Amino acid sequence: MKNIMEAPFIREMRKTTANMYRMGWDERNGGNISYLLDESEVGEYLDLNNVLRTIPTGFDASALIGKIFVVTGTGKYFKNIDEDPETNLGIVRIGKDGTTAELLWGYKDGGKFTSEFPAHMMSHIARLSVDPAHRVVMHSHPTYTIAMNTVCAVDENEFTHKLWQSNTEAVVVFPDGVGVLPCMVCGTNEIGIATAEKMKEYRLVVWTNHGIYGTGKDMDEAFGLIETVEKTAQIYMLALGQTVNVIPDKIIQELADLWHQTPKAGILKV
Ligand code: 13P
Ligand code: ZN
Repeated sequence: MKNIMEAPFIREMRKTTANMYRMGWDERNGGNISYLLDESEVGEYLDLNNVLRTIPTGFDASALIGKIFVVTGTGKYFKNIDEDPETNLGIVRIGKDGTTAELLWGYKDGGKFTSEFPAHMMSHIARLSVDPAHRVVMHSHPTYTIAMNTVCAVDENEFTHKLWQSNTEAVVVFPDGVGVLPCMVCGTNEIGIATAEKMKEYRLVVWTNHGIYGTGKDMDEAFGLIETVEKTAQIYMLALGQTVNVIPDKIIQELADLWHQTPKAGILKV
């Protein structure tokens, strides 16, 4: 059996969460990541028959039975993951009943997965239904995204348009736009269901007054989506009230054309 600390997926979790902390997106225990793993790869590092304990999921995850994820722990600080992955992360497999998770590694102090597990698992189901290459769900609390969302209506077309108008990269990186949910109680199945509904259409979903979800086929895609929204929201907020130049819709369309992207319909007037 190989040493799990050397596993690429553990290295990626350590590196990514440390980066997110340094970006200022994940104060205290803010933020969480779940990453769908390849069973044969995990089998090189862990005995897949050795279930340490089972943890109820609190919802029906039947669509993910047998799937294995590495998931950040609830209450755990991103800044501490790199130095102690085995306490702050866990590797879980969705059990045959679809309502329990089998712990294969981690949560060494008796902990469990993030309180946002419903939103993560339901989002995986939604993204996999539209993109079989999907693997990562990433949630965080980036400051300018939350600030911008505070001063904008809960309207995803309007929010997306403002982002596209503020930074020429935006339409190229997220032509599919950004979904926006109203303020809701987090950590619940309800917010999970609402998030997953948006995830059928978007790779990015903002939770009003709370933060953002980014998804992707790998860490770079999920991280890069959130990073580009946050950078753009920063530009928007720094210029707020003083804006003279926004990117015209015609140029947003031409930028998308240049990169062979199709902007979400119904936003640009071209
Ligand atoms: P967890 O510590 O349970 O992951 O919660 C953090 C968070 O960001 C809640 O939305
Ligand atoms: Zn959060």
